[in-house]
Amino acid sequence: MNDQSQPDNPLATIVSKLINIIAILIVFIIGLIILLIVFIPAPKAKQKVVAPVADENGNFTEEAKQESLKIKDTTNYWMAPDVATLEGDFNKDLILYGKDLIVHTSEYFGENGKVFKASTNGMNCQNCHLDAGTKVFGNNYSAVASTYPKYRARSGATENIYKRVNDCFERSLNGKGLDTSSKEMQGIVAYINWLGKDVPKGISTEGSGLKKLAFLERAASPENGKTIYSQKCASCHQADGLGLMNSEKTAYTYPPLWGERSYNDGAGLFRMSNFAKYIKYNMPLGASHNSPQLTDEEAWDIAAFVNSQSRPYKDIKKDWPKIEQKPFDHPFGPYKDGYSEEQHKYGPFKPIQDKIASLKKK
Ligand code: HEC
Ligand code: HEC
Repeated sequence: MNDQSQPDNPLATIVSKLINIIAILIVFIIGLIILLIVFIPAPKAKQKVVAPVADENGNFTEEAKQESLKIKDTTNYWMAPDVATLEGDFNKDLILYGKDLIVHTSEYFGENGKVFKASTNGMNCQNCHLDAGTKVFGNNYSAVASTYPKYRARSGATENIYKRVNDCFERSLNGKGLDTSSKEMQGIVAYINWLGKDVPKGISTEGSGLKKLAFLERAASPENGKTIYSQKCASCHQADGLGLMNSEKTAYTYPPLWGERSYNDGAGLFRMSNFAKYIKYNMPLGASHNSPQLTDEEAWDIAAFVNSQSRPYKDIKKDWPKIEQKPFDHPFGPYKDGYSEEQHKYGPFKPIQDKIASLKKK
């Protein structure tokens, strides 16, 4: 018979409807939460400021110093090709000759050089291009083959590798350049091209050249630099900065940092930023880009001290033919930006750099 109809219990109906509504609400809220998690970006983790912050006297807190020494870095850096892979290469002998010239430059062009006597100051290319030009952020040659010929504002012209190599002979080695067709120049360029052979044209590798360094907010201090120099550098480079030769006098065990046998005032290292970057990530000997031993402050102050000592002069009046392209730390005027030679030498550099940028926009 017809007993489908159940006794209507109004209370039960209301309760079951309520349960339905609550269930729908719960599902809706969970859905909303999931949507929020997926679509609203998580706030960025607060980044630690690595550049140390000076107090009102221009001094750095102990904490800031420690911070500037901590570098965590997992980048895949460029690695030089293995010399062993040269076996069977038609150019092997020339490439290895070039490498030897870079490592033992002094034996070829120093005081008793095998190729030319005293055509340089007796330094080795490797003194500044560490590990034969292969060290990460040790001023390596990884991006030379891929980026030359290129326009360089210093000369206001497009330069090939030969010109660039001779620049270092004439400035960093305060000497004479080589004939492009000489076996020595051909060797050096063959080696540099071989080092960079796997780097695509136009690309600068991770770790090429020198690593960036934050500016100080104050001018760099030669006085501070002098104190730190005597504590951290003089044991090798000597208190008088003249370096130390080996006992046979064929090469420097510790190269000079100033004086007659050092780089001249037209050299790359005479620019404060290059010097500070080089030592921050390479000196004292054994330091590297992921284990620096100097704070930023120490690096800038030592740069100020060393680059205020006497060194050979080079006539560089023809450099930077477009004065608006002079870098913030080129210490010789005239300038377009209105800042003094003094400030271009010691800083603070940020205002100069900002001014240069604003002039460029006009
Ligand atoms: C006193 C230090 C010093 C010595 C010694 C030195 N160089 Fe340099 N070299 C530098 C610096 C610093 C730079 C980068 C300068 C810049 O970018 O303004 C540089 C740049 C170069 C470059 C261009 C690198 C690039 O990526 O653009 C080449 C090539 C080079 N040097 C070759 C040589 C050779 C070859 C020798 C030896 C004959 C030599 N250098 C000796 C300091 C030195
Ligand atoms: C343990 C010895 C040692 C100490 C300490 C040391 N250096 Fe060096 N430095 C060297 C050697 C060795 C080279 C050359 C590296 C090479 O040829 O492989 C060099 C190269 C250099 C160069 C490039 C070549 C030149 O003579 O222009 C500079 C600049 C430099 N050191 C600065 C410093 C500064 C600044 C300090 C102190 C913070 C320092 N060094 C501490 C051993 C040392």
